[in-house]
Amino acid sequence: MDTPETQDVTGQLVEHALGHLFSAALRTAARCRVADHLAAGPRTARELAGATGADAGHLRRVLRYLATRGVFREDRAGAFHLTPTGEALRTDVPHSQHAAVLMLTDPTFQRTSAALEETVRKAGPSFERLFGEPFFTYLAGDPELREVFDSGMTSLSARVDAVVAGTYPFPEHGRIVDVGGGRGGLLLAVLRGRPGLSGVLFDQTPAISTHVLSGEEAVRGRWSAESGDFFTEVPEGGDVYVLKHVLHDWPDEGCLRVLRNCRAAMAPGARVVIVESVLPGGNAPHPGKAMDLAMAAVVNGQERTREEFAALLAAAELRLTRVLPTAAFPSVVEAVAA
Ligand SMILES: C[S@@+](CC[C@H](N)C(=O)[O-])C[C@H]1O[C@@H](n2cnc3c(N)ncnc32)[C@H](O)[C@@H]1O
Repeated sequence: MDTPETQDVTGQLVEHALGHLFSAALRTAARCRVADHLAAGPRTARELAGATGADAGHLRRVLRYLATRGVFREDRAGAFHLTPTGEALRTDVPHSQHAAVLMLTDPTFQRTSAALEETVRKAGPSFERLFGEPFFTYLAGDPELREVFDSGMTSLSARVDAVVAGTYPFPEHGRIVDVGGGRGGLLLAVLRGRPGLSGVLFDQTPAISTHVLSGEEAVRGRWSAESGDFFTEVPEGGDVYVLKHVLHDWPDEGCLRVLRNCRAAMAPGARVVIVESVLPGGNAPHPGKAMDLAMAAVVNGQERTREEFAALLAAAELRLTRVLPTAAFPSVVEAVAA
């Protein structure tokens, strides 16, 4: 019998099953740069259609749906307004998430996620069957996707970098090595407020060649950028080895190779600082629990719990000393030589 309760459950499940359309609507708004067109004030779908080259009727339907999730707000006159979430979709604001949204909703990842069942049944990343090679190998041969990925990671990290640099007590002196540091956003944020500290950005050539370190007077002469393979070796003599959103890209064997290389390169008394989601137990929601599925499907990686980090670190002769939550979704996991 159809009761209010069963109707409610049906509605919830329908909404969940259509979740990919939320992602598609968000991508559409980002591609049309709707948020930029609302920066000067509210506009109707008709006005926005003129500015974005979209069809007014269809654009309105996309924005109406996004307004149900707080991305925009429609007023009684039919004009759409920016909300705090919509503000972050602008391209010209500090901590813009525009490039992050374009990366996370890229068709490459959408196709891979749609094949999640295959990953679950065969316990291997669906990316490799769909695209013929491991993700980072594929990325090396596709400069356009590499650009989407590096810009997206930089954008995703923009707010997190400042939060982490302000939360974790990085030393005031010495040398920090950001292993797999992407374009260097976190390194820049850490060096900015610590004039006695120097840093090395270490990553693959495409990320290094588009790094963000050179524009700032405050860090001039205190950084270098090196390209290389962290499975082979990492720069020696650092006082802090940072791994931000690196370990979640790899299964335990890969992580151990990177961590052992850090362990071998560390100066006496050095620390390893991992910046990643630390998954809470039980039913507690956490953005890392969705990201974990993307890691499984795309790269055969995973997000980890505190216990899993402790075990991984111990296997690399490192000892977990503390986990610091931050105001952003990743936490900071600190370790020293065991
Ligand atoms: C998910 S991104 C994280 C980037 C940055 N730490 C951040 O949080 O924005 C992973 C990084 O690892 C780098 N990477 C992947 N394989 C690598 C390897 N074998 N050696 C060095 N860097 C590698 C990628 O180029 C990429 O920049």
